[in-house]
Amino acid sequence: MKKTILCIGAGYVGGPTMAVIADRCPDYKVIVVDKNEARIAAWKSENLPIYEPGLDDVVKRARGRNLFFSTDVAAGIYEADIIFVSVNTPTKMFGAGAGKAADLQYWEKTARDIIENSDRGKIVVEKSTLPVRTAEAMQRILDSNPKNLHFEVLSNPEFMAEGTAVDDLQNPDRVLIGAMETPSGQKALQDLVDIYSHWVPREKIKTANVWSSELTKLVSNAMLAQRISSVNSISALCEKTDANILEVSDAMGMDKRIGSRFLRASVGFGGSCFKKDILNLVYLCEHYGLPEVASYWEQVVLMNDYQEARFVEKIIRNMFNTVAGKRIALFGFAFKADTGDTRESPAIYVSQLLLEERAHLAIFDPKALDNARVDLKDEQGHIEYIDDPYEAAKGAHAIAVLTEWKEFAAYDYQKLFDLMEKPAFIFDGRNILDHQKLHGIGFNVFPIGQKALTHL
Ligand code: NAD
Ligand code: UGA
Repeated sequence: MKKTILCIGAGYVGGPTMAVIADRCPDYKVIVVDKNEARIAAWKSENLPIYEPGLDDVVKRARGRNLFFSTDVAAGIYEADIIFVSVNTPTKMFGAGAGKAADLQYWEKTARDIIENSDRGKIVVEKSTLPVRTAEAMQRILDSNPKNLHFEVLSNPEFMAEGTAVDDLQNPDRVLIGAMETPSGQKALQDLVDIYSHWVPREKIKTANVWSSELTKLVSNAMLAQRISSVNSISALCEKTDANILEVSDAMGMDKRIGSRFLRASVGFGGSCFKKDILNLVYLCEHYGLPEVASYWEQVVLMNDYQEARFVEKIIRNMFNTVAGKRIALFGFAFKADTGDTRESPAIYVSQLLLEERAHLAIFDPKALDNARVDLKDEQGHIEYIDDPYEAAKGAHAIAVLTEWKEFAAYDYQKLFDLMEKPAFIFDGRNILDHQKLHGIGFNVFPIGQKALTHL
C-alpha cells in the first residue's frame, strides 16, 4: 500500500467518503474510526448504519480489502500518514455564541488525540464543515506537541448531499482543497490531489488557500439554502395572487444566469447542515463586526421557520380551525427523499405544532420511522408510527406530504380517499402529487404556492 489514510468520524460523511476513496484507490489503505461502537459494528455488518443508494455495493467491494472500520482511534492515528477529520460540528447550545456558533469540542478533542498518538508528522485534513480560520487553531494545538513533530493542516470540505452521496462522491462538480502557501503546505496539497486524481478529472480539483476553502463550504450551503428560502417566500405571494410557483420557478430557471436547480418550493429545507452552517456564518459576521451581512443571511433561516409554520397554519385554518382529535397522516418524515436521516427535518417542527393543537398523528416513512421515534420521544400526545401508507390514512381527516419520496406519487389515491374521513384533505408540502387528479377523486387539495383545489 502506498499510504494509510485514516478518517476520524464514521458518520454520514466519513463512511461514504472513505468507502469511495477506498473503492477508487486500491493502492491506499483506508481506516475509518469512531468512538461510537454501535456505529462501527453496523459498518462492519450487512446492515450499514446509513441508507444511501449504491453505498452497499461500494462498501462490499472495498471492505476487508483496503477499507477497515474500527473503534481503536489511537491505533488508527498511529498507523496513518493522512488523517481526515469528519466529526460532527453542531451548533453550540451553551455559553458564548449559544444558538449560532459551531460547537468545536469534538473537533478539538481529535487534535489532542492526534498529538497523543503520533510518533511522526502527518497531514491532517479538515473534512468537517468549520468556521473560517479554524485551521489556524488546529495548527496551533498540533504545533504544541512536545515531540516537535510537524503536522500540516489542509481543508477539504465535503459537498455531497444525502440521498445522492455515492453519485456525488463518484462524480463531484468539484473537489476543493485548501492549503497553506508554504512549501510544506503545497507538498501536502499535492498528496491529496494525488488521491482524488485516481477518479476526479484534474480540472475539477480546485486548489485554494485554506481560508477560502473553509469559507467556500459555509457560503455554498448558505447560497443553496438562500435559493430555497427565496422561492419559498414567493410561494406565499403566489398563494395570495393565483400565480403558480411551479410556473414561476420553471420560467425563471430557464435564464442560464439563474439556473433551474434548487428552486423547488417546499414545506421548508431540513438536514443537519443548512441551518447550522448559516447560523455559523451569521455568528462569524457578527464576530467580525459585520451586522448588516449577518442579518442578511439570518433571514434565510427565519424565512424557513416562517414557511414551516405557515404550512401548519394552512392545515389548521382549512380544517375549520381545529385539528384537535383529528387523525392526520404524515407521508414522509425524512428531511429529503432517499435517506432515513431526519436531522432538522421540517417534519419534526410540523409534528410538534400539530401535537400542540392536539391532532392525532399517523406517521409513515419508507426509511425514517426509527429516527422519527427518537425525534418525537419526548412529545406528549397521540402518535402512531406505521409502515404502510394505507394503514396510516385509515380514518384520517388529512394527509400531509412532508418528504419528496417518488413512491408517494404512485399510490392508489382512490383507495386512500375511500379509507379516509370526509371531507378529506391533502396538504402537499412538496408539490409532488397530481393535484387535478386528486381533486377529481374528491380530495380538497392544498399545494405550496399554487391555487388550492377544493369542494368546500
Ligand atoms: P455524524 O454525526 O453523522 O458523524 C460524526 C461522527 O463522528 C459520529 O459518529 C461521532 O461518534 C464521531 N466522533 C465525534 N467525535 C469523535 C472523536 N473524538 N473520535 C472518534 N469519533 C468521533 O456527522 P456527519 O453528518 O457525518 O457530519 C460530519 C461533518 O461533515 C459535519 O461538520 C458536517 O457539517 C459536515 N458535512 C455533512 C454532510 C452531510 O450530508 N451530512 C455533508 C457535507 C459536510
Ligand atoms: C446539502 C448540500 O446540498 C450539500 O452540497 C452539502 O454538502 C450538504 O448540505 C451538507 O453540507 O450537509 P443535503 O442537506 O444532504 O445537502 O441535501 P439537499 O439536497 O441540499 O436538501 C436540503 C433540504 O432542502 C432538503 O430538506 C430538501 O428537501 C430541501 N430542498 C432542496 C428544497 O426544499 N427545495 C429544493 O429545491 C432543494
